[in-house]
Amino acid sequence: MLPLVADAVVPSAAPTPAPELAAGERPPLFPPAPLVASPAATITEPVAVVAPPVVAVAAPPVVAEAPTVHNGPGLVLGAVVVEQAPKAGRWRVRERHQAAKTDMISPPASLTGIDARGISAWFGTHQVLDRVSLEMAAGEVTALIGPSGCGKSTFLRILNRMHEMIPSASLAGEVLLDGHDIYDASRKLTDARREIGMVFQKPNPFPAMSIYDNVLASLRLTGVKAGIEVKDEIVESCLTKAGLWAEVRDRLRQPGGGLSGGQQQRLCIARALAIRPRVLLMDEPCSALDPTSTRRIEETVMQLVSEVTIVIVTHNMQQAARVSNRCAFFLAEHGTPGVIVEHGPTKAMFGSPQDSRTNDYVTGRFG
Ligand SMILES: Nc1ncnc2c1ncn2[C@@H]1O[C@H](COP(=O)(O)OP(=O)(O)OP(=O)(O)O)[C@@H](O)[C@H]1O
Ligand SMILES: [Mg+2]
Repeated sequence: MLPLVADAVVPSAAPTPAPELAAGERPPLFPPAPLVASPAATITEPVAVVAPPVVAVAAPPVVAEAPTVHNGPGLVLGAVVVEQAPKAGRWRVRERHQAAKTDMISPPASLTGIDARGISAWFGTHQVLDRVSLEMAAGEVTALIGPSGCGKSTFLRILNRMHEMIPSASLAGEVLLDGHDIYDASRKLTDARREIGMVFQKPNPFPAMSIYDNVLASLRLTGVKAGIEVKDEIVESCLTKAGLWAEVRDRLRQPGGGLSGGQQQRLCIARALAIRPRVLLMDEPCSALDPTSTRRIEETVMQLVSEVTIVIVTHNMQQAARVSNRCAFFLAEHGTPGVIVEHGPTKAMFGSPQDSRTNDYVTGRFG
């Protein structure tokens, strides 16, 4: 095996007591294990996680230039996870899973919803979500709203198996895509990550890489070989869907880092679309953008939803009201784990909420 993670961790010998479960509750799929630093260890993935074997690769940095932002535990591009090297500030491949390469450019499958059932989540022994269930319907935009720290991003990361990339993280529950649990042992990790794409809070294109190559990054990193015509078609169609084609068609060979923040975010949407996800998760995609760029992303979201189911986290109530068909209001009160207080059609959530806490939140009384 090759050392891909510099500050590797290994579980200590002592077992951790499992989180306390309510009667009848399923135990976590990924029980937390105490982690101790071990500079000598050479591993290819967080060892607290039960995941399919990772194919070790001696990957060179994807680009030599240090990007300015970093999003959580890594950037998932289909079958590949890239991260910034701790010191050099470079992107590098952290995990590369085996994937059916030809599938990566096959026609997209039909629209599908995603159904989270009884999701609980922990970081170590700290429980942050408690039996959250939510059906996110096919071909709709579902907005996740709620005050800071109530578990929205954690919930989103669980929907495409990114939560398990965080050492010490564990979860219980099921996430059904087409009626099958993405955490079922028979399902491949890469299938979930490929079918359920993600766009992050801060735009994170590879800055030195061309706009063209940024769109194709996940295919390239996975080793998919495609002819120039196929590549051109993917680039044009993804940039068009992301609402960026008209602005960049004459400068596709220029670096992604040269675009404005709003354009970079649309480039990231195009990159996410290149692997033909059926569900697109967006974690506060406009929070770093100006109002005009925000409006462009919102238009893009509303156009995309006819072919990909969208789940978006936002702190902007006007945005939730503008773009979403349905809303779910998350809350973690007085140090308790996050739960969904209320969910339903966006009109009802804003116009006639059933719970006074929802009403207080959507009218800006707290949060
Ligand atoms: N990597 C982590 N390690 C430990 N605890 C974490 C980690 N990420 C999140 N948490 C904790 O989990 C809880 C939920 O965090 P999460 O980021 O999901 O909330 P959020 O609703 O997305 O908040 P925000 O609106 O500020 O983005 C918080 O208490 C947070 O401190
Ligand atoms: Mg968040």
